[in-house]
Amino acid sequence: MSGSQYKRIVLKLSGQALAGSGYGGIDHEVISIIARQVQEVVELGVEVSIVVGGGNIWRGATGSASGMDRATADYMGMLATCINSLALQDALERIGVVTRVQTAIEMKEIAEPYIRRRAIRHLEKGRVVIFAAGTGNPYFTTDTTAALRAAEIEADAILLAKGNVDGVYDSDPLVNPDAVIFSELSYIEVIRRGLGVMDSTATSLCMDNNIPIFVFGLSTDGNIKRVVKGEKIGTVIRGKNDA
Ligand code: GTP
Repeated sequence: MSGSQYKRIVLKLSGQALAGSGYGGIDHEVISIIARQVQEVVELGVEVSIVVGGGNIWRGATGSASGMDRATADYMGMLATCINSLALQDALERIGVVTRVQTAIEMKEIAEPYIRRRAIRHLEKGRVVIFAAGTGNPYFTTDTTAALRAAEIEADAILLAKGNVDGVYDSDPLVNPDAVIFSELSYIEVIRRGLGVMDSTATSLCMDNNIPIFVFGLSTDGNIKRVVKGEKIGTVIRGKNDA
């Protein structure tokens, strides 16, 4: 592999990142930039799978906070991830990257269903696999989806690309200008300090399966590739003994 630290990764993109500076929806310029960055990583020989959130279209938590049935609100969020996954597939295939979308909720007229062994086979053939519809269950986030799929496909790392921050801070950097960024954290510190980077279900799943999480800002100039090549940007979350 030419310069990559990892053979197989799960790239987690926040849905909001696809909206760029817009309030919601999908910014075509932004999604094209992301697609080109994914292409660069695929060209390094890395097997890339992607989990994308849906917050640019619908947030289950917001729906349930306004009195909606939680499960219904979450199912709407899962459908939002399907829209984003198809948009990503389109952006990737327009530049010649072969992809397969697999959905956790069956909608076989639109995409193939999630089948673990088949996903692995696609990855081995150099296809980018986009996991849509979350885990298929309400009460679980797309961060948990990324952790679950990473464990299932035996990925070497999760890359958590953020739209509005460039790592994990001790307090919200969008609110506190004196917030300090961590270069490294253990899973247990993330959970104990209640750092909002990933929910505790996702973090503990990564801890149990010893999957490192790289949290960094989604730049326009190749941060995904930098992380894959081992450059230290943002924050890495892993077990203390792996440092
Ligand atoms: P290989 O068997 O490794 O060649 O993989 P493949 O994905 O090319 O095989 P297949 O012939 O199963 O798939 C061809 C195309 O059909 C791909 O674009 C798949 O994503 C798509 N496809 C496969 N199964 C389904 C499905 O259940 N629903 C939908 N909508 N598309 C599917």
